[in-house]
Amino acid sequence: MLRLPGLIDPHVHMREPGATHKEDWMSGTAAALAGGFTMVLAMPNTMPPVCDAETLSLALNLAGQKAHCDYAQFVGAGEENAALLPALVSRAAGLKLYLDQTYGPLRLTDQTVWRRHFECWPNDKLLCIHAEGETLAAALKLAEEMKRPIHFCHVSQKDEILLIRAAKERGAAVTVEVTPHHLFLTETDIPAIGSGRSEVRPRLASLADQQALWDNLEAIDCFASDHAPHTLAEKDGLTPPPGFPGLETALPLYLSAIESGYLTLDQLIARCHTNPKLIFNLPDQPETWVEVDENAVWRIRGADLHSRAGWTPFEGRQVQGRVTRVVLRGREVFNDDQIMCAPGSGRDVRAIIH
Ligand code: NCD
Ligand code: ZN
Ligand code: ZN
Ligand code: ZN
Repeated sequence: MLRLPGLIDPHVHMREPGATHKEDWMSGTAAALAGGFTMVLAMPNTMPPVCDAETLSLALNLAGQKAHCDYAQFVGAGEENAALLPALVSRAAGLKLYLDQTYGPLRLTDQTVWRRHFECWPNDKLLCIHAEGETLAAALKLAEEMKRPIHFCHVSQKDEILLIRAAKERGAAVTVEVTPHHLFLTETDIPAIGSGRSEVRPRLASLADQQALWDNLEAIDCFASDHAPHTLAEKDGLTPPPGFPGLETALPLYLSAIESGYLTLDQLIARCHTNPKLIFNLPDQPETWVEVDENAVWRIRGADLHSRAGWTPFEGRQVQGRVTRVVLRGREVFNDDQIMCAPGSGRDVRAIIH
């Protein structure tokens, strides 16, 4: 048996408020525990989006009633809300800016709006960015000019990771996460997954892009699932929304990579616990750990997931390593594929007094 610290996923979509047919705080945090994650940071592209005090309270109240694991909620940058967001700093996981088109209504195209958010949000609080390609380059340049620390979400391409690595080498305050789907899938997998189901932002990339992520592992601060559940009916429909569920498949994929020699256990713990905790300024979870049967060989099946999504782009993949038990703050919360704690037993980590 292998014992890991409680893993932290700094990028998940719980879909509540607004799209509970995809996921809600109960099913999403059940998926987290089943995947070995005891803390999740939830993105603001809900319906309505979390963009002000009222919607933040709405999301936090729902989480407070339903979450099985600990959590914090991001607020989203809009065209008009830059000046009012600093009042929400202490209650928010961080601020999220969407600079390219993805799922949800929160895209910001006007660079003067980016600049306003870069200025208003306190420099010692995290600002996370969805940006790809030239947009990423532009955001990095602006942040460096303004000495504004930033975190890039789900970076997927060779050019992007090399640009970020170079910025780090010249001392820029930039951190970066990558997803398991960009580490373990490429565009060559699209025919097998199906075109609608393989829709995700950033898109699945080339083998050279995937290799560049592995080659630059030292420049990658965090792994983040970007757990983005949509139903199979939606994925197989005429306008498939982008996004993959990922909370329950991430750790088995990482453990399998350790088994294959691509990753070390220390590198995994740094990217799924120590670094996210430091970067996002998250509290300790005392008496919290994850028990793993590192010898269990099994096949990923969408039908077995706790996530309401009920499907996975990794369907049928053989992995080695399985979460058997999770203890959160001294209480057994997951055992033998069952959630053992009540909805609402998870805590808002931004409400914990230090
Ligand atoms: C995410 C979603 O569905 O909310 N989709 C995705 O393809 N990654 C949005 C996002 O993280 O960009
Ligand atoms: Zn720790
Ligand atoms: Zn995104
Ligand atoms: Zn996301």
